[in-house]
Amino acid sequence: MRIVRCAGYREMSRQAANLISAQVIMKPSCVLGLATGSSPVGAYDQLAEWVKKKDLSFAEVSTVNLDEYRGLAPQDSHSYRYFMDNNLFDRVDVRKERTNVPDGLCADPAAECARYDALVDRLGGIDLQLLGIGRNGHIGFNEPGDAFIRDTHLTALTESTLEANRRFFEDASQMPCEALTLGIRHILQARRVVVIASGVEKADAIARAFTGPVTPRLPASILQFHPDVVLVADEAALSLLDKAEAAV
Ligand code: GLP
Repeated sequence: MRIVRCAGYREMSRQAANLISAQVIMKPSCVLGLATGSSPVGAYDQLAEWVKKKDLSFAEVSTVNLDEYRGLAPQDSHSYRYFMDNNLFDRVDVRKERTNVPDGLCADPAAECARYDALVDRLGGIDLQLLGIGRNGHIGFNEPGDAFIRDTHLTALTESTLEANRRFFEDASQMPCEALTLGIRHILQARRVVVIASGVEKADAIARAFTGPVTPRLPASILQFHPDVVLVADEAALSLLDKAEAAV
């Protein structure tokens, strides 16, 4: 793992955007695995700015998002499709038909999960997977559990995740308690993984993910097996990792 140490959220965002843009410049028809949440917003702003200035183009890029809430329509402002359109897709020159987010309204989740895995396979896998990390160590919506789940699946959100994400819902009762998420296979098969983390509330998950045992109780720990992970994080998010490494 390589660590890109940043002073704060702004620098983390710029550094993550640099890595994504380098990927797009090197391989204009690349497949980007994208994430939602507050962590990637600054990186998406930076990418949109570069595209506006014509320093970068997403014209040939395909995208695959990690996850979507079950039961939310694409037009619902809380859905991850809406988030992606708003924060990135509508601000860059990507072709909308090449952007993919699981269908939260699907009638048959098992069929939708199979369709999504087949789609990623058909695209040839993911070139660069951008990942945030949940406070409980989740990646995408791969929640802590008894086993790593290989394929795209429907998952019940844990109390920790419901609590962390409630801030995005004005009416907490409207928050779905299930989601569709890419499984561990496609995340691990991504040719490069870029993990972004900012703030002290991520410090524990980051330290345990990269220095603790590899366990499905902390899904991000599986990234220790990936040969090309770049962790772009600020001092606060790295604080406990630094301590754990100093203790070795
Ligand atoms: C959400 C998403 C994840 C995201 C994580 C962290 O639940 N499903 O993909 O990485 O939680 O979110 P944030 O960046 O807002 O802390």
